[in-house]
Amino acid sequence: MKKLYIRTFGCQMNEYDSARMADVLGVGEEVVRAERPEDADIILFNTCSVREKAQERVFHDLGRVRLLKREKPELIIGVGGCVASQEGASIVKRAPYVDVVFGPQTLHRLPQLIARRRESGRPQVDVSFPEIEKFDAMPPARVEGASAFVSVMEGCSKYCTYCVVPYTRGEEISRPLDDVLAEISGLVARGVKEVTLLGQNVNAWRGAVGGDEAETGDFALLLECVHEIPALERIRYTTSHPCEMTPRVIDAYARLPKLVSQLHLPVQSGSDRVLAAMKRGYTVLEFKSVVRRLRAVRPDLSLSSDFIVGFPGETEADFDKTMALIDEIGFDGAFSFAYSARPGTPAADYDDPVGADTKLAWLAGLQQRIDAQAQALSQAMVGTVQRILVEGVAKKNVDELCGRTDNNRVVNFPAPSPHRERLIGQFVDVTISAALPHSLRGEIVVRAF
Ligand code: SAH
Ligand code: SF4
Ligand code: F3S
Repeated sequence: MKKLYIRTFGCQMNEYDSARMADVLGVGEEVVRAERPEDADIILFNTCSVREKAQERVFHDLGRVRLLKREKPELIIGVGGCVASQEGASIVKRAPYVDVVFGPQTLHRLPQLIARRRESGRPQVDVSFPEIEKFDAMPPARVEGASAFVSVMEGCSKYCTYCVVPYTRGEEISRPLDDVLAEISGLVARGVKEVTLLGQNVNAWRGAVGGDEAETGDFALLLECVHEIPALERIRYTTSHPCEMTPRVIDAYARLPKLVSQLHLPVQSGSDRVLAAMKRGYTVLEFKSVVRRLRAVRPDLSLSSDFIVGFPGETEADFDKTMALIDEIGFDGAFSFAYSARPGTPAADYDDPVGADTKLAWLAGLQQRIDAQAQALSQAMVGTVQRILVEGVAKKNVDELCGRTDNNRVVNFPAPSPHRERLIGQFVDVTISAALPHSLRGEIVVRAF
């Protein structure tokens, strides 16, 4: 048995990919997961290059494991993910002790790459884009708990001017409908009750329908079909793009109760001028119209988003518009970032007069406003009954269980010991009794029959 240690950076696509790396190596190499890099025979870094800071971390961490290799020459060090995809062979040039470099689309070839490294004694680099082959070559995913992620599309064809993703992950490619449904049915048969459909622009899914490659369906069709799988109770998806929130997808919220009333819909900015410079493809009015129509069919819809502050040329007035949009919509959480120039993207050549201090001040202000909104929503949940999917024993108290609400909040609640184990992986109703900064507390609803 070999021991595998994986360090993951970046988005949920990378989290998903890391789990798949463990799956393919488990089949090919007979591996178990190691808790610490010191114990491992194979160390993999699944990297992110979306912002400069994330990219720098990789070389910093690589420098540290280099020392481990001196003591253990057989140790395999691999770099995957988006930095690998962008840098390719230059990673081996900069860090010659790296054994394998692979991209998000070639991770299924890991066992072969490692074997070739051992045979040839030379580092192996494969960051090509063999498209959908990845999914066909993968063993069935391991199931842990009642909630699972399913990748339905890869890549991005939107080319926002600041973003590396289309270059690191390639153009959008969707998995065929039947493949996705077969995977989810398999998961459900093994106890999964909630799926999160994953994609860089998941609602841009346009997969083949039936045997005919030429015939494709849209994301609304995918949702409808997934919704029909009996015993599947909750459907989430991330990340969605406002331009792909078609009337059909909005209508799905009216018709499909298994779709959660929570949506992550990145807007990036509340200024039309900035949105145009980012090439996002929508105006503030169009974004608001999407939200209005969604809330017309789902009044309780909770929305989270992504924001970039300090885009080249952004002014105080632009930033104020973003804050005004936040006040108007009311977001339940957000990932927000100071703009980071990425080599190879169009915006990297734009004049960037926004000072670093300004960016950080704006970022802090924005995050504060969003946190206040999320906290207000948590407070408003106190006293309500929420359906939660029980994930396991609470982190801080073994007499309690924890689970997640529809709008993705962690709820800790006391559970009587004879029933505790039985409730894990089940849905239960709890009354929310208190809202803490990062979680809620609840009491199981006891029904009188
Ligand atoms: N496809 C998704 C987001 C993928 S990247 C979408 O378009 O909504 C995740 C987030 O990282 C983005 O939403 C954006 O807010 C942020 N991001 C991407 N490139 C960035 C950059 N160069 N500087 C700062 N933040 C960036
Ligand atoms: Fe990047 Fe834009 Fe694609 Fe999102 S839609 S991944 S921000 S290029
Ligand atoms: Fe990062 Fe790649 Fe995801 S750049 S955010 S890991 S798609």
